[in-house]
Order: sequence, then structure tokens, then C-alpha cells
Amino acid sequence: MEAEHIHNLTPVRHPSTDGTDMEWLSMILFGHSAFQYLNAACELGLIDLLARGEPMTAQRIGESLGLAERARDILLLGCTSLGLLRRDRETYCLAPRVADLVERGIWPHVQNVVAFEQHIVYEGQADFTESLRRNTNVGLRRIPGEGNDLYRRLSQTPHLSETFYRYMNSWSRLANGHLARCLDLSEARALLDCGGGDAVNAIALAHANPHLHVTVLEMPAYVSMAEEKISGFGLDGRVTVRGFDLFADEFPDGYDCVLFAHQMVIWTPEQNTELLRKAHRALVPGGRVVIFNSMSNDTGDGPLIAALDSVYFAALPAEGGMIYPWRQHEKSMADAGFVGFERIPCPTWTPHGILIGRKPKE
Ligand SMILES: C[S@@+](CC[C@H](N)C(=O)[O-])C[C@H]1O[C@@H](n2cnc3c(N)ncnc32)[C@H](O)[C@@H]1O
Repeated sequence: MEAEHIHNLTPVRHPSTDGTDMEWLSMILFGHSAFQYLNAACELGLIDLLARGEPMTAQRIGESLGLAERARDILLLGCTSLGLLRRDRETYCLAPRVADLVERGIWPHVQNVVAFEQHIVYEGQADFTESLRRNTNVGLRRIPGEGNDLYRRLSQTPHLSETFYRYMNSWSRLANGHLARCLDLSEARALLDCGGGDAVNAIALAHANPHLHVTVLEMPAYVSMAEEKISGFGLDGRVTVRGFDLFADEFPDGYDCVLFAHQMVIWTPEQNTELLRKAHRALVPGGRVVIFNSMSNDTGDGPLIAALDSVYFAALPAEGGMIYPWRQHEKSMADAGFVGFERIPCPTWTPHGILIGRKPKE
């Protein structure tokens, strides 16, 4: 029985005799190893190789990837055991769940997330405990460069900022279809996108609302990156970018809608309230503020991805952020003078949500 399991490389279950659930514990205990197999499968091109569709023997896989026999066998053992690959007699193919992600065009986004986790997040998370002890982002010390936040540091290392914005673009695109669908901008003329990155959300909203003008506020180091993307979509003139410091500069005013996409997870509640007060001043009476990012439950018990992602926000980007519960954002909004909150959970595997508040008419 045991020998057959090993031959087929199917996951072996070890029900413990004393009733403990060691399989559950081992996935946490060796979670970092599981991630390293996924990363290696991406970086070495294993998934791309098998995505071409034809099942391959271990020998052909090893030759195609330029791996020595032992290295190839480790990779195949891990990827098969973790359910990324399926072994059938002497050949390997993608597991159906991975093949499905490839077919649906989601896999490139997954790869961008993997590269971000490997090259930006991974090391700094080793400082998670110390970050909790000191209540600040100790892990930032693992990122080269000057400055107290990740974005300033990344701007000094081009290959890291490219990895970051490839990830950010993918992470936004996994959910911003819901933003474009659910946020009714039919009456809005001008939207302000605060910390808009490569303008991925500004572009999506401008596409969905042909009458809309969007101003992206972004750190000067990233303005040309965003402008290139906007030009690539033929949206020059309708989407513009301003080099800006969200904390030091006063927001331009006269907007119908102010968007914070993946912004309110970075900062402390006090900093979020400060940004929301600026948004309040930037809005016309009756205008709306929109928070679009992952949300955790008000009950503090999930979802799991919100908890796992909070390790990064505690250890790296800035002094203090997390995947806050909806109610925390509502409190910050209320403190800044907003009313009439509307929660829209996104039906995605990421815990994205949209929270809308309104500036009173008078
Ligand atoms: C997590 S990314 C989100 C990017 C984009 N909104 C998205 O959802 O894809 C946060 C963005 O805020 C920008 N940012 C951080 N601090 C800023 C500041 N003080 N002023 C302007 N932009 C800032 C960063 O450069 C980065 O592009």
C-alpha cells in the first residue's frame, strides 16, 4: 500500500493514531516550502512547459528545463504532492485545477503574484513577530534603498519596482471588473484616483464610463510608467497623472468621486482618516468616496486570505497597515465626515470589497 502511494506520487494521508490533525498542522509548518515549490515551478518554466498540453516524461521535463536528475526529481516530487501536477504512469501533466487557471487566462496573474511574494515579500515577513512587538514595519529593512515606506524604496531599484507593479496590475485586474460594474459613475464627470499606481483602475473605469475624466495622483517616480500605460490604451487627455504626495499636498478639488484603491490597507487608521478628510475637501457636495481593497470580517475571524495578507502589511509597506475590517474603514469615513455607507463584497477568491461613502449635500 505504502509502496503504491510512493510510486504514484499521490498525496499520502497520515491519520494520526492519537486523533491529532497533523496534515492540517504540516501545511502551516511547511507552508514556506510549499510556496518555494510553486515559485520554482514558475521560475524554472515547469508550468509553462506543461501548459503546452502534451504530457511529458520526467526525463524530457528535466532536459527541457536544463535540470540535473536529482533536482528534477525534487521538483516533480513537490509539485505532484502539492497537486500542481498530476502523474499518470510515466508522464506528468498539469493538474486539472492548474490547467483550468491557464485556460481561463488567470495563471499569468498568479505568476505575477508569486514573483512579488518571492522577491519583495518573502524575506521581510521573517520580521513579522518583531513588527508586531514594535508595532511597526521592521521587515522594510530587507528592501534596499532609502525611505520609510516600500514605495519610496522600490523606486530606487528598477527590477523590484517592475516586479511590484506587474503584481499590482494583476491584483487589481483580478477584481476591478467588479468595481467597474458595481460603481455607478453615470452621473460623475471627474474622478480622483489617489495613489493610482500604473493607472490600472483609472483605465478600467474610464473604459467603462466613456464620459468620465480621471486624475491619477501618484508619486513622481511612477508618473511616466502610468502615462505610458494610459497612452497604450489611447486614453491620453481623459486620464491624466499628477506627480503628488498624498500626505504633504492638498488634493485638487471639484471631484464627483474620490477612489482609494489598495491604499487604505497600507496606513494606520489615523493616517487613513487624514486622507479621507482630504478626500472630503476635494469632493463636491453629494460626491462619493470609494475604498476598494481586501476587507476582513467585522468579527475578526477571516477570511483566511485577509489574515495571511495582513502579515505583509504588518511587516513591510509602511509603519502600520492591515486588511482592516469593513467597520474600521466606516469609522475612518465617519470621522472624516462621510455618511450613507454602502458595502459591496466582490464575488472573488481574493477578499476584495468596495465601500462607498457620501459627502452630505450641505
Ligand atoms: C498598493 S499600491 C496601489 C496602486 C493602485 N491604486 C492599484 O490599486 O493598483 C499603492 C500606491 O500608492 C502610491 N503611494 C504611496 N505613498 C504615496 C504618497 N505619499 N503619495 C502618492 N502616492 C503614494 C504608491 O506609489 C503605489 O503606487
